[in-house]
Amino acid sequence: MCGIVAYLGRKAAQPILVEGLKRLEYRGYDSAGIALLRNGGLCIKKTCGRISALEQVLEGPRGLDTLGIGHTRWATHGPPNTVNAHPHVDGTGKIAVVHNGIIENYNTLKTWLQSEGVAFQSETDTEVISNLIGYLYCHGESAERCNGQHLFEWAVQQALQRLHGTFGLAILCSDFPDTLIGAKRGSPLILGVGNDEYILASDAAAIVEHTTRAIYLADNEMVLIGSEGFHTKTINNVVVAKDLKEIEFSLDQIELGGFEHHMLKEIFEQPQSLSMCLGGRIDKQCGKIKLGGIADHLRELTQAKHIIFTACGTAFHAGLVGEFLLEHLARIPAETEYASEFRYRNPIIGDDTIVVAISQSGETADTLAAVEQAKERGARVLGIVNVVGSSIARATDAGIYLHVGPEIGVASTKAFTAQVAVLSMLAIELGRRRHISSDDAARYIDELSQIPEKISTILDQSSHIREIAAANIDRENWLFLGRGFNYPVALEGALKLKEISYIHAEGLPAAEMKHGPIALIADGMPAVFIATAGPQYDKIMGNIEEVRARGGKIIVVATEGDDEIRRHADHLITIPEAPELLQPMLAVVPLQLLAYHAAVLRGHDVDKPRNLAKSVTVE
Ligand code: AGP
Ligand code: GLU
Repeated sequence: MCGIVAYLGRKAAQPILVEGLKRLEYRGYDSAGIALLRNGGLCIKKTCGRISALEQVLEGPRGLDTLGIGHTRWATHGPPNTVNAHPHVDGTGKIAVVHNGIIENYNTLKTWLQSEGVAFQSETDTEVISNLIGYLYCHGESAERCNGQHLFEWAVQQALQRLHGTFGLAILCSDFPDTLIGAKRGSPLILGVGNDEYILASDAAAIVEHTTRAIYLADNEMVLIGSEGFHTKTINNVVVAKDLKEIEFSLDQIELGGFEHHMLKEIFEQPQSLSMCLGGRIDKQCGKIKLGGIADHLRELTQAKHIIFTACGTAFHAGLVGEFLLEHLARIPAETEYASEFRYRNPIIGDDTIVVAISQSGETADTLAAVEQAKERGARVLGIVNVVGSSIARATDAGIYLHVGPEIGVASTKAFTAQVAVLSMLAIELGRRRHISSDDAARYIDELSQIPEKISTILDQSSHIREIAAANIDRENWLFLGRGFNYPVALEGALKLKEISYIHAEGLPAAEMKHGPIALIADGMPAVFIATAGPQYDKIMGNIEEVRARGGKIIVVATEGDDEIRRHADHLITIPEAPELLQPMLAVVPLQLLAYHAAVLRGHDVDKPRNLAKSVTVE
């Protein structure tokens, strides 16, 4: 996730780029920069921090600088700093690129370019793009053999054909002062078409104040923009016709992607965000998992005698799933500790203990303190974090980034499913190295790769789930109950409901009810059961009957095609079939939507619930 803006027209580009980047800052905000074409060369300014920090380093706009590109970054490769900020240039300083996305084969391309004598300045994957275009531009075939294209366009096309992964790009070449190139695969890119002016952007929020006429590039398409107009092609140089469309959204709506709240947008983003998280890491063909961030520690992890997950809130619930996954697949003793308890409990940490800190923000004070505590006791400490370059990411010895883009809603949703996906990949890989057969590993990898699409089918039930919330929001106490891998999901569902609807909710292992909590059951009390297909299905059916017999209102999350359970539920939500150990990423989605709709129906500020902060950086 990040924001790209580029301008070619008759006005000074700089203010248009800066204002456009401000409109896109919600997409990523750890560093920013612009490149202007000036006097036959590139003038580049970039800095760490928000757009306001960039404004501090900019000179006043110049009327003749009418071509430029800009970027506000959400780092995926290389911590947020000035060197890693975009734009990135090639060695000649002629080619400048801003990029949204992840280049999965950047290491291979970087190694090859370096073997050809190309120098790199940054740690980003993006710099491979500018250097590859630059290399081809300098070493490219003669113009005649570039099919009559100008060399810049040809070099861009040749480079893009070599990239694996996702990109939204704006590209400049100082030898072509009236040409701007945009290209897209997997990350959004829109061209706003004004009167003799053009604006490329990641989304329409940066375009609407200049024009409402736009073309939307499809994957593997590019646009060449010049003083005499624009034309669109595939990256394989096949001309494509694109219709001009009218941008109908308001600015506010656009930043929310048409959703009412960031939380709902992030719930619905999960098929895409999980695909980004899994992308480049699961190889279905050879049944392998590639976790580059911890490659140097996989042997240690495989031989570990004890793994401790430490986290807070939603991340703690993901850690619990991770504990069960590691023990089930890799047979490694694991436990999950609240970071706030771990840090004061005088934990037992041996030489063969590995501590894994899980945190979306990477700034949670208790989790950071737990990391420091574990390091002081000599443990190897790894991180599973979303924000690149965050305090926890920097404090750990190595880690795995979620790659799901900024999570703005205070209630964590897409980060949870991504944390569980990373933990699933880790457990499958360690399992493959220890106990499970390659066939089993390949089967789990194949099942894991299907999870994003399966989440899409659950999202289609949002209106139905809203009706369930509406029928029960007058109840001030709810229970969430699950067994096995879905017990942590019950905890997560309760937390979601509590933190945004302010309804009191408790998550429990379903069997634990009869040891006290069943006394709470009163007429009409909602009890949400995760009763999906699995080894404990019959047991949880018994728990459902215990609650029904005492007047509870039964809300069930079950597996598609389960006609038996329909007779025992007042409300039924179904999820696609999946192995029990991968069900948490599916079973949690109905509970996220249930909490979201309950909060909206109760009139609360879903994205900024009372008393809460997105990142708890205090004890
Ligand atoms: C989750 O919805 C809450 N916002 C909160 O529990 C959160 O998960 C917790 O504060 C941990 O945050 P972190 O993942 O950024 O460390
Ligand atoms: N992968 C690129 C980087 O880490 C782009 C990230 C983004 O989309 O902001 O710089």
